[in-house]
Amino acid sequence: VAPPEIQYSVRRASASDLFEVLAVLQQNAPSPPLEGVSATVAISKEQRATWKRILATPNLTVYLAEHGREAVGTACLLVMPNLTYHCQPTAFIEAVVVAYAHRRRGVARLMLGRILDDARAAGCHKVQLLSHKRHADDGGHQLYRSVGFEAEAEGFRLYLSA
Ligand SMILES: CC(C)(COP(=O)(O)OP(=O)(O)OC[C@H]1O[C@@H](n2cnc3c(N)ncnc32)[C@H](O)[C@@H]1OP(=O)(O)O)[C@@H](O)C(=O)NCCC(=O)NCCS
Repeated sequence: VAPPEIQYSVRRASASDLFEVLAVLQQNAPSPPLEGVSATVAISKEQRATWKRILATPNLTVYLAEHGREAVGTACLLVMPNLTYHCQPTAFIEAVVVAYAHRRRGVARLMLGRILDDARAAGCHKVQLLSHKRHADDGGHQLYRSVGFEAEAEGFRLYLSA
């Protein structure tokens, strides 16, 4: 079997990738639904507007992992400027999802490797992410530990909408 970096590649998503990113994001569950994964992605006006906003936001990057021309993974990186830590920015990772059919082949690890390289190149002091406690047993926490993250902080959340 070829190493993952030969089968899979990671790049920054661009304006024309909204459909691909949404197609991966709709697979954001521990296992596929019994009725199978829908191939259709209806893009809403709100999603189009949000995508525009994302692309126009400095320091915010959406990544796309591909197998050939097929989108198989996505993740986001936000590099937040900081006055503390000698003005070194902090990196935040969000929305890490890999398509069901391509899991356990190193796609998430490849995306996180690229993100950590980019965060390092941006001069970040630390990289933070939150993963819900329900991911303790479905692979999420194991994934982050496997690339070096430690669960050394307590995560706090307050939901502002129902
Ligand atoms: C979690 C998720 C992103 C992993 O993606 P992936 O491409 O399958 O992960 P990788 O193949 O790169 O796995 C890297 C390592 O993470 C750990 N890991 C990943 N999935 C795992 C699972 N289901 N069970 C146990 N360990 C797992 C393993 O240590 C794995 O290394 P190994 O395969 O050599 O043992 C994917 O399952 C997913 O999209 N889940 C739904 C969304 C989600 O839960 N996101 C993250 C939580 S915030």
